[in-house]
Amino acid sequence: MRLNPFNGVYLTDPASVWRRILDDPDEVHYAEDLGLWLISRHAHVRRALADVATFGNALTLAPIYEVCPEAMSVIMQLDAPPTTAAADPPVHPRTRQALRATFANTPDRVEAEYGAIVRRRVDQLVSRLVARQGGRVDLIPEFATELPLLVVLDILGVPDADIARIRSWADGQIALIWGQPDPAEQVRLAQGLVDFWRYCQDLVQQRVDSGHHGDDYIGRTLAYRNGDDSVLTVTEVASIAFNLLVAGHETTAGLLAHALDQALSSPQRWREIATDPQSVPDFVAEALRFAPSIDGWLRVTNKEANLGGVTIPAGARCLLLIGAANRDPAVFAHPDRFDPNRPDVRDQLSFGHGPHFCIGAALARLEAQVALTRLAAAIPGLRLTPEQHRSFKPNVAFRAHHTLPAIVDVLAPADEAVASGTVSAEARAA
Ligand code: HEM
Repeated sequence: MRLNPFNGVYLTDPASVWRRILDDPDEVHYAEDLGLWLISRHAHVRRALADVATFGNALTLAPIYEVCPEAMSVIMQLDAPPTTAAADPPVHPRTRQALRATFANTPDRVEAEYGAIVRRRVDQLVSRLVARQGGRVDLIPEFATELPLLVVLDILGVPDADIARIRSWADGQIALIWGQPDPAEQVRLAQGLVDFWRYCQDLVQQRVDSGHHGDDYIGRTLAYRNGDDSVLTVTEVASIAFNLLVAGHETTAGLLAHALDQALSSPQRWREIATDPQSVPDFVAEALRFAPSIDGWLRVTNKEANLGGVTIPAGARCLLLIGAANRDPAVFAHPDRFDPNRPDVRDQLSFGHGPHFCIGAALARLEAQVALTRLAAAIPGLRLTPEQHRSFKPNVAFRAHHTLPAIVDVLAPADEAVASGTVSAEARAA
């Protein structure tokens, strides 16, 4: 089976590739060009995500290609201990316990702890867009990638002054691990990754040295460890921050982009969001299923595994095609139809499954719900420009739009309900 994630149709219409793989009578495939086993069926992806004894995480954050020696010597300086997505037992149960204790991961906790941050940052960005009335904006840099980064920096207690370099380091990490950079670029990105890690170490060490931990996420995690290395080491706290700064924004940026793309691709959908904020959670859930922002995720077999009658040898890297699993007709009726009312939406695997299930799922959902609700209320006439050439950055894991150009129109002329202002009042309650 051939899969070229860096060229051609996968960059414009990945669902057509998932369909081809799902329709193939062989249930599991080896992609020789990539050196990865492709796991696409819902039941298999779900099992591989949950069965951490067989499908381990040790290589989840390791580049998918053979890195050039110069870049490898830089990467070798990276001494960040695995704490989250790359951690296996016995470390992961301990660090996961720390994450669950320190990071709000249920709707109620997220609302209580991060709700005000999310609303403040959404309003700040929506106001900037409103000020561009009549103009053309690109919703990717001006909204989708900006909001989650600002939110996660606020949560962690990282100064706004560092936004630009954190964005550049995080983008670089995603390109270095799951992209296809040439050797010179590999060296540059690897150096960025090491600088990023040193930055996180300094961020945490300064708090420890000053004796003032602070009341943000980093402070809370230092308080949780309470000086006890058997709970978490200081370096592990830095490693968690290092992971959250990437996981916490690149993913949610993708969700916002896909949700806005779906919502704005029909004026009727945007109007529904503006007039019926209660419908937004279901809309967001379906956007997550239909176009997950992480549509491929890596595991490595710790021992021989059997899936769908196919034997995968030990030590094999597997690409779990979450995007395909979310379109598996064995689980989802009419899987290629975008339907915010579908009853089976909860079976999606967009946030993973099992012991590594995304710790930020509730935060991501809240961000997307508040963002869509407030944006639609403030700019009911927002519309995509007619000449959309939708394409995604070349990457096996992150499905990120290049651009999403739109026209700002704060009034939808044909829509009296919106113009009357009743919508804004409802939306404010969201
Ligand atoms: C739409 C947004 C998001 C998507 C699609 C997403 C997706 C995922 C996926 C697929 C995994 C791997 C799960 C597995 O292996 O079973 C994961 C893990 C993780 N996510 Fe998210 N994520 C999102 C937002 C966030 C946010 C906002 C944060 C934090 C601020 C976050 C933090 C993490 C962490 C720390 C892990 C590793 C958990 C562990 O290994 O125990 N994610 N996420």
